[in-house]
Amino acid sequence: MHGDLKTNAELIHGLLKNLEHKHNTDVAVCVPFPYFAQIQNLLTNTDITFGAQDISTHESGAYTGEISASMLHDFGCNWVLCGHSERRAYHNESSVQVASKVKTALDHSLSPVLCVGETITERKDGLVEHVIAAQMAPVLSLTNTVNMAQLVVAYEPVWAIGTGHTASPEQAQQVHAFIRAELNKRDLNHVRIIYGGSVKPENAAALFAQPDIDGALVGGASLDAKTFADIVLAANL
Ligand code: PGA
Repeated sequence: MHGDLKTNAELIHGLLKNLEHKHNTDVAVCVPFPYFAQIQNLLTNTDITFGAQDISTHESGAYTGEISASMLHDFGCNWVLCGHSERRAYHNESSVQVASKVKTALDHSLSPVLCVGETITERKDGLVEHVIAAQMAPVLSLTNTVNMAQLVVAYEPVWAIGTGHTASPEQAQQVHAFIRAELNKRDLNHVRIIYGGSVKPENAAALFAQPDIDGALVGGASLDAKTFADIVLAANL
Protein backbone atom coordinates (compact mmCIF):
# COMPACT_ATOMS: atom_id res chain seq x y z
CA MET A 1 0.00 0.00 0.00
CA HIS A 2 2.52 2.50 -1.27
CA GLY A 3 2.32 5.29 -3.81
CA ASP A 4 0.27 8.21 -5.06
CA LEU A 5 -0.23 9.80 -8.48
CA LYS A 6 2.89 11.94 -8.22
CA THR A 7 5.36 9.38 -6.88
CA ASN A 8 3.99 6.63 -9.15
CA ALA A 9 4.70 8.79 -12.20
CA GLU A 10 8.20 9.61 -10.95
CA LEU A 11 8.89 5.96 -10.20
CA ILE A 12 7.76 4.66 -13.60
CA HIS A 13 9.56 7.43 -15.51
CA GLY A 14 12.71 6.74 -13.51
CA LEU A 15 12.45 3.02 -14.08
CA LEU A 16 11.97 3.39 -17.83
CA LYS A 17 14.91 5.77 -18.01
CA ASN A 18 17.21 3.51 -15.99
CA LEU A 19 16.26 0.38 -17.92
CA GLU A 20 16.04 1.71 -21.47
CA HIS A 21 17.45 -0.93 -23.88
CA LYS A 22 19.56 -2.33 -21.06
CA HIS A 23 17.70 -5.34 -19.74
CA ASN A 24 16.67 -8.71 -21.13
CA THR A 25 14.32 -9.86 -18.40
CA ASP A 26 10.56 -9.76 -17.81
CA VAL A 27 9.79 -6.76 -15.60
CA ALA A 28 6.41 -6.08 -14.01
CA VAL A 29 5.12 -3.75 -11.32
CA CYS A 30 2.24 -4.78 -9.06
CA VAL A 31 0.26 -1.70 -8.20
CA PRO A 32 -2.69 -0.81 -5.93
CA PHE A 33 -6.04 -0.94 -7.77
CA PRO A 34 -6.83 2.82 -7.85
CA TYR A 35 -3.74 3.47 -9.98
CA PHE A 36 -4.42 0.94 -12.73
CA ALA A 37 -5.51 3.56 -15.30
CA GLN A 38 -2.47 5.70 -14.52
CA ILE A 39 -0.05 2.80 -14.75
CA GLN A 40 -1.66 1.46 -17.92
CA ASN A 41 -1.11 4.86 -19.55
CA LEU A 42 2.45 5.19 -18.29
CA LEU A 43 3.42 1.71 -19.49
CA THR A 44 1.81 1.81 -22.95
CA ASN A 45 4.40 0.97 -25.62
CA THR A 46 7.03 0.03 -23.05
CA ASP A 47 8.47 -3.39 -22.25
CA ILE A 48 7.23 -3.27 -18.64
CA THR A 49 3.95 -4.96 -17.75
CA PHE A 50 1.89 -4.68 -14.62
CA GLY A 51 -0.05 -6.73 -12.14
CA ALA A 52 -2.48 -6.58 -9.23
CA GLN A 53 -1.82 -7.43 -5.60
CA ASP A 54 -4.99 -9.49 -5.15
CA ILE A 55 -7.99 -10.84 -7.08
CA SER A 56 -11.52 -11.95 -6.25
CA THR A 57 -12.54 -15.53 -6.94
CA HIS A 58 -15.98 -14.30 -7.99
CA GLU A 59 -16.83 -13.42 -11.58
CA SER A 60 -19.11 -10.47 -10.71
CA GLY A 61 -22.07 -9.65 -8.49
CA ALA A 62 -22.83 -8.57 -4.94
CA TYR A 63 -19.31 -8.77 -3.52
CA THR A 64 -18.71 -5.24 -2.25
CA GLY A 65 -15.08 -4.24 -2.26
CA GLU A 66 -13.87 -7.13 -4.43
CA ILE A 67 -12.04 -6.75 -7.74
CA SER A 68 -12.65 -9.36 -10.46
CA ALA A 69 -10.44 -10.87 -13.13
CA SER A 70 -12.40 -9.14 -15.89
CA MET A 71 -11.79 -5.78 -14.18
CA LEU A 72 -8.07 -6.52 -14.20
CA HIS A 73 -8.31 -7.39 -17.90
CA ASP A 74 -10.10 -4.13 -18.69
CA PHE A 75 -6.90 -2.29 -17.78
CA GLY A 76 -4.46 -4.62 -19.51
CA CYS A 77 -3.20 -6.14 -16.27
CA ASN A 78 -1.15 -9.33 -16.84
CA TRP A 79 -0.10 -10.57 -13.41
CA VAL A 80 -1.61 -11.01 -9.98
CA LEU A 81 -0.04 -11.80 -6.63
CA CYS A 82 -1.90 -14.62 -4.87
CA GLY A 83 -1.47 -15.32 -1.18
CA HIS A 84 1.16 -12.75 -0.30
CA SER A 85 2.08 -13.37 3.36
CA GLU A 86 0.41 -10.11 4.37
CA ARG A 87 -2.88 -11.28 2.81
CA ARG A 88 -2.50 -14.62 4.57
CA ALA A 89 -1.66 -12.98 7.92
CA TYR A 90 -3.96 -9.94 8.00
CA HIS A 91 -6.88 -11.27 5.96
CA ASN A 92 -6.75 -14.89 7.06
CA GLU A 93 -6.43 -16.17 3.51
CA SER A 94 -6.08 -19.93 3.68
CA SER A 95 -4.06 -21.95 1.19
CA VAL A 96 -7.32 -23.30 -0.23
CA GLN A 97 -8.61 -19.76 -0.83
CA VAL A 98 -5.27 -18.78 -2.33
CA ALA A 99 -5.46 -21.77 -4.68
CA SER A 100 -8.89 -20.66 -5.75
CA LYS A 101 -7.44 -17.22 -6.58
CA VAL A 102 -4.67 -18.91 -8.57
CA LYS A 103 -7.31 -20.89 -10.48
CA THR A 104 -9.36 -17.75 -11.18
CA ALA A 105 -6.27 -16.01 -12.54
CA LEU A 106 -5.29 -18.98 -14.73
CA ASP A 107 -8.85 -19.38 -16.01
CA HIS A 108 -8.69 -15.74 -17.17
CA SER A 109 -5.24 -15.93 -18.76
CA LEU A 110 -3.62 -13.88 -16.01
CA SER A 111 -0.28 -15.02 -14.59
CA PRO A 112 -0.68 -15.76 -10.88
CA VAL A 113 2.35 -15.32 -8.66
CA LEU A 114 1.71 -17.83 -5.88
CA CYS A 115 3.50 -16.63 -2.73
CA VAL A 116 4.65 -19.22 -0.21
CA GLY A 117 6.98 -19.03 2.77
CA GLU A 118 7.54 -20.01 6.38
CA THR A 119 7.65 -17.91 9.55
CA ILE A 120 10.79 -17.78 11.66
CA THR A 121 9.22 -20.10 14.25
CA GLU A 122 8.38 -22.64 11.58
CA ARG A 123 11.97 -22.45 10.31
CA LYS A 124 13.39 -22.93 13.81
CA ASP A 125 11.09 -25.91 14.29
CA GLY A 126 12.42 -27.54 11.10
CA LEU A 127 9.07 -27.19 9.34
CA VAL A 128 10.11 -25.30 6.19
CA GLU A 129 9.41 -28.06 3.66
CA HIS A 130 6.28 -29.13 5.49
CA VAL A 131 4.86 -25.58 5.41
CA ILE A 132 5.79 -24.95 1.77
CA ALA A 133 4.38 -28.30 0.66
CA ALA A 134 1.11 -27.59 2.50
CA GLN A 135 0.83 -24.11 0.93
CA MET A 136 1.48 -25.52 -2.56
CA ALA A 137 -0.69 -28.64 -2.30
CA PRO A 138 -4.08 -27.08 -3.15
CA VAL A 139 -2.53 -25.32 -6.15
CA LEU A 140 -0.76 -28.45 -7.38
CA SER A 141 -4.01 -30.36 -7.17
CA LEU A 142 -5.40 -28.03 -9.86
CA THR A 143 -2.94 -29.49 -12.37
CA ASN A 144 -5.39 -31.86 -14.02
CA THR A 145 -8.18 -29.32 -14.42
CA VAL A 146 -6.44 -26.04 -15.21
CA ASN A 147 -3.75 -25.04 -17.69
CA MET A 148 -0.84 -24.14 -15.40
CA ALA A 149 1.40 -22.67 -18.11
CA GLN A 150 1.31 -19.16 -16.67
CA LEU A 151 1.95 -20.07 -13.02
CA VAL A 152 4.85 -18.43 -11.18
CA VAL A 153 5.84 -19.38 -7.62
CA ALA A 154 7.44 -16.84 -5.27
CA TYR A 155 9.33 -18.16 -2.26
CA GLU A 156 9.08 -15.44 0.37
CA PRO A 157 10.23 -16.42 3.86
CA VAL A 158 8.01 -14.32 6.12
CA TRP A 159 10.98 -13.48 8.35
CA ALA A 160 12.77 -11.86 5.40
CA ILE A 161 9.93 -9.65 4.12
CA GLY A 162 10.45 -6.00 4.92
CA THR A 163 12.90 -6.86 7.68
CA GLY A 164 16.24 -6.30 5.98
CA HIS A 165 17.12 -9.95 6.74
CA THR A 166 17.54 -11.76 3.44
CA ALA A 167 17.74 -15.51 3.19
CA SER A 168 21.28 -16.37 2.17
CA PRO A 169 21.58 -17.52 -1.44
CA GLU A 170 22.16 -21.07 -0.14
CA GLN A 171 19.12 -20.99 2.16
CA ALA A 172 16.94 -19.67 -0.66
CA GLN A 173 18.34 -22.18 -3.17
CA GLN A 174 17.60 -25.07 -0.84
CA VAL A 175 13.91 -24.14 -0.66
CA HIS A 176 13.74 -23.32 -4.37
CA ALA A 177 15.13 -26.77 -5.16
CA PHE A 178 12.43 -28.28 -2.97
CA ILE A 179 9.72 -26.23 -4.74
CA ARG A 180 11.20 -27.25 -8.12
CA ALA A 181 11.01 -30.91 -7.13
CA GLU A 182 7.38 -30.52 -6.03
CA LEU A 183 6.55 -28.86 -9.36
CA ASN A 184 8.44 -31.47 -11.36
CA LYS A 185 6.39 -34.24 -9.77
CA ARG A 186 3.42 -32.68 -11.60
CA ASP A 187 5.36 -32.11 -14.83
CA LEU A 188 5.40 -28.37 -14.17
CA ASN A 189 9.05 -28.08 -15.13
CA HIS A 190 8.56 -24.74 -16.89
CA VAL A 191 7.27 -22.83 -13.83
CA ARG A 192 9.42 -19.90 -12.78
CA ILE A 193 10.36 -19.71 -9.10
CA ILE A 194 11.27 -16.26 -7.86
CA TYR A 195 12.65 -15.21 -4.48
CA GLY A 196 11.31 -12.38 -2.31
CA GLY A 197 12.42 -10.98 1.02
CA SER A 198 14.68 -7.92 1.31
CA VAL A 199 16.12 -8.27 -2.19
CA LYS A 200 18.49 -5.36 -2.88
CA PRO A 201 21.06 -4.52 -5.56
CA GLU A 202 23.76 -5.75 -3.16
CA ASN A 203 22.36 -9.28 -2.81
CA ALA A 204 20.46 -9.71 -6.09
CA ALA A 205 23.28 -11.10 -8.27
CA ALA A 206 24.23 -13.78 -5.73
CA LEU A 207 20.59 -14.85 -5.45
CA PHE A 208 20.11 -14.91 -9.24
CA ALA A 209 23.27 -17.01 -9.61
CA GLN A 210 21.57 -19.92 -7.83
CA PRO A 211 20.37 -22.61 -10.23
CA ASP A 212 16.73 -22.62 -9.10
CA ILE A 213 16.22 -18.88 -8.55
CA ASP A 214 14.60 -17.46 -11.67
CA GLY A 215 13.91 -13.91 -10.52
CA ALA A 216 12.82 -11.72 -7.65
CA LEU A 217 9.69 -10.33 -6.03
CA VAL A 218 10.86 -6.98 -4.74
CA GLY A 219 9.09 -4.94 -2.07
CA GLY A 220 10.81 -2.03 -0.36
CA ALA A 221 13.65 -1.75 -2.88
CA SER A 222 11.17 -1.28 -5.72
CA LEU A 223 10.08 2.07 -4.30
CA ASP A 224 13.24 3.70 -5.63
CA ALA A 225 13.60 3.66 -9.42
CA LYS A 226 17.40 3.38 -9.50
CA THR A 227 17.49 0.66 -6.84
CA PHE A 228 14.79 -1.37 -8.57
CA ALA A 229 16.48 -0.91 -11.94
CA ASP A 230 19.80 -2.09 -10.48
CA ILE A 231 18.09 -5.30 -9.29
CA VAL A 232 16.63 -5.84 -12.77
CA LEU A 233 20.04 -5.28 -14.35
CA ALA A 234 21.58 -7.81 -11.94
CA ALA A 235 19.32 -10.38 -13.61
CA ASN A 236 20.74 -9.73 -17.10
CA LEU A 237 22.04 -12.94 -18.60
P1 PGA B 1 10.70 -6.66 0.78
O1 PGA B 1 9.20 -7.12 0.45
O2 PGA B 1 11.49 -6.75 -0.51
O3 PGA B 1 10.56 -5.24 1.27
O4 PGA B 1 11.23 -7.58 1.81
C1 PGA B 1 8.94 -8.27 -0.27
C2 PGA B 1 7.47 -8.44 -0.42
O5 PGA B 1 6.67 -7.72 0.21
O6 PGA B 1 7.04 -9.32 -1.18
